[in-house]
Parts: sequence; structure tokens; C-alpha cells
Amino acid sequence: MARALFCLSLCVCGIVVASVVTTRVGEYIVSDGDDLFFPQMGTPTTTNTTTSNNNTALNCSVLGDLREWVSPKEVWHNMSDEELMWRASMAPGVEEFPYERKAKVAFMFLTRGRLPLRMVWERFFHGCDRRLFSVYVHVQPEFVGEEEIPPSSVFFRRRIPSKPVQWGRPTMVDAERRLLANALLDFDNERFVLLSESCIPLFNFTLIHSYLTRSSHSFLSSFDDPRKSGRGRYNKRMWPAVTLQDWRKGSQWFEVHRAIAVSVVSDVTYYPLFEAHCAPPCYMDEHYLPTLVTKTHPARCANRSVTWVDWSRGGSHPKMYRRRDVSKGLLDRMRYGGRCGYNGNASEICFVFARKFDASALEPLLSSPGGGSSGMEPCVRVAPAPLFTRCHPTLRGE
Ligand SMILES: *[C@@H]1O[C@H](CO)[C@@H](O)[C@H](O)[C@H]1NC(C)=O
Ligand SMILES: *[C@@H]1O[C@H](CO)[C@@H](O)[C@H](O)[C@H]1NC(C)=O
Ligand SMILES: *[C@@H]1O[C@H](CO)[C@@H](O)[C@H](O)[C@H]1NC(C)=O
Ligand SMILES: *[C@@H]1O[C@H](CO)[C@@H](O)[C@H](O)[C@H]1NC(C)=O
Ligand SMILES: *[C@@H]1O[C@H](CO)[C@@H](O)[C@H](O)[C@H]1NC(C)=O
Ligand SMILES: *[C@@H]1O[C@H](CO)[C@@H](O)[C@H](O)[C@H]1NC(C)=O
Ligand SMILES: *[C@@H]1O[C@H](CO)[C@@H](O)[C@H](O)[C@H]1NC(C)=O
Repeated sequence: MARALFCLSLCVCGIVVASVVTTRVGEYIVSDGDDLFFPQMGTPTTTNTTTSNNNTALNCSVLGDLREWVSPKEVWHNMSDEELMWRASMAPGVEEFPYERKAKVAFMFLTRGRLPLRMVWERFFHGCDRRLFSVYVHVQPEFVGEEEIPPSSVFFRRRIPSKPVQWGRPTMVDAERRLLANALLDFDNERFVLLSESCIPLFNFTLIHSYLTRSSHSFLSSFDDPRKSGRGRYNKRMWPAVTLQDWRKGSQWFEVHRAIAVSVVSDVTYYPLFEAHCAPPCYMDEHYLPTLVTKTHPARCANRSVTWVDWSRGGSHPKMYRRRDVSKGLLDRMRYGGRCGYNGNASEICFVFARKFDASALEPLLSSPGGGSSGMEPCVRVAPAPLFTRCHPTLRGE
């Protein structure tokens, strides 16, 4: 049986040694399952114990270097959800990173299939420092449309192993946890934002990255709703782990710190209770995270969302914005129309994302100047790039 030996002394190399030596170097042992930890590294060869005692003989190509392990390039893998959650639940015991770390924002898209507003996001990310963000996409497993995504796209090969999702059911929460767990595998991801296919950014990348990473709070809406649609959905069978006083409601579209993301994928206490006792008309995606985070990290939570949405008409679906609705005026109301707390100070910027926009909104959102897109310029300006002009063939069929 081979075991992985993780050696930090020599340009962080690893070699595989026979199990007879594992007791002596016990503090370096990472795992029994090599491919669980080093999925991209190929099959390690078993070497003999003499070699393992000779540091100069370590071969760096066997297990790769720390950067690849910390921040894997590929997102596809063969882990089951159970294996994935377990692996993602791990957090470093040493707080300082042994390299210069830039805080990444993980943009996690929970979608059914094609992203109708993909071009809005492509432009948003255009020219931005890839060390500052990463993209993950969860789609219905039967979706086959990936070949449309060119290698230059930020969405290229960012689909994670996904499972079917039903609206309002626990499978929705499963998909959120699956996205979090996959994004946690990249240790540079510090903030995790859940987005849908109908979400758009309201500002440019620079502003959004700094708004999120400089906040001491996570943006997750969480409130105690005394009505039937809030407390009325509480089920006494969750008592005593979850009391009526603990019970919270909130929007599904969250943004959380890494520490909260780890606690969500690690949760084995509350998840089963919600799964068993929160079925429609109790919607698990509206209650599970707000309640969990309020119980586990109340002080870290801003209790508000950064994703703008209009529920003023009532009903179970918010207003959908179409082509004729999009204007600079509308977007500016979303951008600057509020008043909220930010790190203890008052801020007029309360929302940095907005929903729901349908496919017909794409063209006015991309049109500039004066159109919807002003205010969300790409990191590097792409003055008249064919990709973003009207009626270009690449825009059709998006
Ligand atoms: C281990 O390495 C030594 C020195 O290279 C060699 O003499 C020996 O045969 C090797 N043993 C095995 C089991 O491969
Ligand atoms: C360690 O390995 C190197 C290169 O393979 C060899 O030259 C050296 O003699 C070895 N040293 C010991 C102590 O085995
Ligand atoms: C490491 O192993 C690879 C392939 O087995 C080999 O090509 C390379 O020369 C080795 N490097 C060193 C430093 O031994
Ligand atoms: C996943 O499993 C398939 C089939 O068993 C295999 O072809 C593929 O290489 C595996 N991928 C990874 C990343 O391990
Ligand atoms: C959010 O709510 C929790 C519990 O209801 C509270 O402890 C916390 O202080 C609130 N956060 C902010 C930023 O007010
Ligand atoms: C927030 O308020 C504190 C004191 O109230 C001040 O020191 C700090 O500079 C303010 N931060 C911002 C970003 O305005
Ligand atoms: C991003 O937006 C901010 C505020 O609107 C602005 O100051 C900054 O210049 C913009 N950055 C880019 C790269 O357009």
C-alpha cells in the first residue's frame, strides 16, 4: 500500500514511500487516497525506502508543487458528493499562507442550462486579473451546450459535476453546497457568491471585488418573519437543535466568507433536520442558510443581500426585466437607490448584483455609451471589439 508523503522542505515535493516508513514521518502524511488529494498528478510510482531518506533524490514532478495543489486548474473530478464535502471541509491549521495570496472571489452560477447573459459576464471579466476570481457552473446534468463556449471564455471548462435540481426542494440546497464545496477546493477563494443565469453585475469588477473582499461581513439576507410565510413554516420536530427563535428566512442568493463556506459544507447537524422537516410550502433554500449562519456566525453576517431584486408585486416570483425595461435610470436606481450599513458606516451602494433579467435584456445591457452597460466597464477596455457590438453573429443564439 502506498501512502502520500508531503514534503515541504525541498521546493515542496512529494514522493510515495512504502508504508513501512510512514510511522517515522507521520507528521507529513496527508492521506491514504492519493488521487483524492492530488487528482491531476497522474499515478505516483512506488519507490523504495532508501530513496525516501535521500532528500536530493526527491522528484518534484511526481506530486506537483504546492500552487497546483492549492489552486487546481481543472474543476472536473470523480468524487462523490460525500467525498467532495469531506475534502472541502478541511481548513489549514496554519493561518499564514506560505506564499503571497490574493483573495479570490468565487462566482458560482447555479443554472439550468445555457447562460443567456453570458456576454454581460464575459465583458465584466474581460482583462481582469485571473488571480482575483474564479468561476464555477452547476447545470442540469442533461445539458449539452458546452461546445458553444470558446476557450477564451471565463466559463470554458468551469462546469462542475452536477445533479438534477428541483425548484424549492432540498436538491436546490444540495447544488448550492456542491458549488461551495467545489469552490473551496481552491484555497485562494476567499469569498463565495451564488448567482443565477438571470443575474447581472451592477458595477465593474474592480469595485465589486473590493466591495466584497473589504467587507468584514458576509452578505446573506436573514430575518425573522413573524408571518405564515416565515415562522409559519417552522416545524416543531426540529426542536431543540433549531428553535422558533433560531428560525430565519432570507434570499437564496448569498455571498459568504470562506469560514462560513467551510461550516456549510461541514454541517451534519442541521442539514438532515431541514431535509426531513422543511418540505413545501417550506422552501429549504429560503431557510436553511439564513438559520444556519445566524446560529453559527451571527456577528459575521450583514443580514442583507447584495443582489437586487424586486418583490413588490408579491407572488412567488420576482419581477423579470426585459429589453424595454433596461435603462441607465433603472440600473442607477439599483446601484445608488439604497442606504445601508457597510463595515459599520452608511453606504449608498447596497447592491452590486441584480436579478432577474431575461435573454431579451442582453442587447440593451451590452449597448454603450449611455446604455445599461455604462458603469460596468471591463477591467481592460475593449473599444469597439466586435464581440460586443450589436448584431454580431456571436450574439445570436446566446
Ligand atoms: C532500493 O534501492 C537500492 C539502492 O538504489 C537498491 O539496491 C535496492 O535493490 C532497491 N530495493 C528495491 C526493493 O527496489
Ligand atoms: C542521494 O542521491 C544522490 C543522487 O541520486 C546521490 O548522488 C547521493 O549519493 C545520495 N546520498 C545518499 C546519502 O544516499
Ligand atoms: C523527475 O522525473 C521525470 C519523469 O519521471 C524525469 O523526466 C525528470 O528528469 C526527473 N527530475 C529529476 C530532478 O530527477
Ligand atoms: C474519471 O473517471 C473516468 C472514467 O472512470 C476517467 O476516464 C477519467 O479520467 C476520470 N477523471 C479524473 C479527473 O480522475
Ligand atoms: C445580524 O443578525 C444577527 C442575529 O440576528 C446579529 O447578531 C448581528 O449583529 C446582525 N448583523 C449586523 C451586521 O447587524
Ligand atoms: C467608517 O467610519 C469610521 C469611524 O466611524 C472611520 O474611521 C472610517 O474611515 C470609515 N470608513 C469609511 C470607508 O468611510
Ligand atoms: C470601476 O468603477 C469605479 C467606480 O465607478 C471607477 O472609479 C473605476 O475607474 C472603474 N474601473 C474601471 C477599470 O473601469
